[in-house]
Amino acid sequence: MSARPARTRSANAGQLALELPLELPAIDIAPEWKAQQRLWGHSLHPMCSYLASFPAALTHAFIARYSRPGDVVLDPFSGRGTTPLQACAEGRIGVGNDLNPFAHLLTAAKVEPASRAAATTRLAQLRLAWNAERAGWIALAATVHQDPAAARVPTAGTATRPTDGVEPVPAEVAVAFHTTTLAQLLFVRTTLRLHDRTDRFLAAAITGILHGKSASYLSELMPNTFSMAPRYVRDFARRTHFASPERDVFDGLAAKLDRLFRQPPPRTEGIALLGDARDVAGRAREALRASGRPERVRLVVTSPPYLRVVKYGYYNWLRTWFLGFDARRIDDTLDDAHHRAPYLAFLREVLADLRPILADDAVLVLVIGDVETDRGRQIRGGIGLAERAFEQAAEPEGYRLAGVALDDVAAVRKMTKLWGDEAGRATKTDRILILGATEAGRRRALAAAPRDVDWTWPPQALRSL
Ligand SMILES: C[S@@+](CC[C@H](N)C(=O)[O-])C[C@H]1O[C@@H](n2cnc3c(N)ncnc32)[C@H](O)[C@@H]1O
Repeated sequence: MSARPARTRSANAGQLALELPLELPAIDIAPEWKAQQRLWGHSLHPMCSYLASFPAALTHAFIARYSRPGDVVLDPFSGRGTTPLQACAEGRIGVGNDLNPFAHLLTAAKVEPASRAAATTRLAQLRLAWNAERAGWIALAATVHQDPAAARVPTAGTATRPTDGVEPVPAEVAVAFHTTTLAQLLFVRTTLRLHDRTDRFLAAAITGILHGKSASYLSELMPNTFSMAPRYVRDFARRTHFASPERDVFDGLAAKLDRLFRQPPPRTEGIALLGDARDVAGRAREALRASGRPERVRLVVTSPPYLRVVKYGYYNWLRTWFLGFDARRIDDTLDDAHHRAPYLAFLREVLADLRPILADDAVLVLVIGDVETDRGRQIRGGIGLAERAFEQAAEPEGYRLAGVALDDVAAVRKMTKLWGDEAGRATKTDRILILGATEAGRRRALAAAPRDVDWTWPPQALRSL
């Protein structure tokens, strides 16, 4: 293990005091996750695209080093559930928490998935019900296409009839789909109940095929990565006379289920929590206790929101419409610490809250987006964010630093998805802070850093778990 600095100081003291990063020790963890295939890991991971999500291989690099089967692995900002799913797939108890109901749905669908049998049986039931009721839903979709502002459709999850309409369909939703596809979506959206495990799994799988640029998606109006701005979508559709080809929701879903179940769901189940990361500890402890699992967390692998907040509602408006969530409300609820000082205070609160549920030798892996510029404009306070996070959020709460690892390639790939290549490098480098909850945790982090990790997937040793 080396004690080389993560970044050398090359400027005078005045500049350093202003912006440049502090010198923190690097940790010798080879970034082997970068060398793995894009879809490395369990087949449930690519359920639905999600901005700034981890590659599963990155989480494996830390789960394999810093936890054992049966340990609790937590991500307080779980997004689409990469850490908890990969943890479950490796025989750990993966616990994910997110304040965004869409992220919570994806996490829950992965750590408490439907069985293949339950999912295919429910899909068959839906097809049968659709065949019996199709005329009414197609008539409703036709009225939506004629006049989206005037037509009224049932609310998501109410299991009501096409004639029980109460809410309009946004024009940009209507324009995205062929009439029959829209009719099927309206039927499925009304029928699926998100608190039911199997229905939630199917709903999450449908969000993953709603839009994208190939025949496996229900609309080709937008790329799969995120929903484009509604006004842009309306203008684009008008300008290009966009008419979506007919895509069958049930066939698309059946094909998606085949892809998701390429590997059997993990035998170890996890826990998905919905709420603020600042009070996750009590909720996690309660859920672990209620399910008879260990109450102490041995490993945290997480990526807090970026300094420049990604609008998870706005960039997923078509998916949130399908699920019956309010995109604007999601963005209002999510943390809005755009500036460094409140961001660091926020992170400190999260770390303070976590303390009581951490095992004495717990290790924390915090992937911090080191944002330098946003679409070419310099972001104040972005540089050296990881160092500040240690100095102003982790160290004052008693955490011990094992070292910093860099993840530059992954960061560029993640954020250019959102802002496009022409936007330049939105995120310069992700820095991975590796902390011990105590000195014992720090020592464990250092001792396991040089360990060899098995990148065979699924690994031989886990097949029997
Ligand atoms: C960088 S993303 C994490 C992505 C995740 N690592 C993955 O692989 O999908 C940050 C997440 O923090 C969530 N978030 C923002 N503010 C939050 C808060 N106060 N409490 C909990 N989650 C929050 C966002 O909804 C988003 O999913």
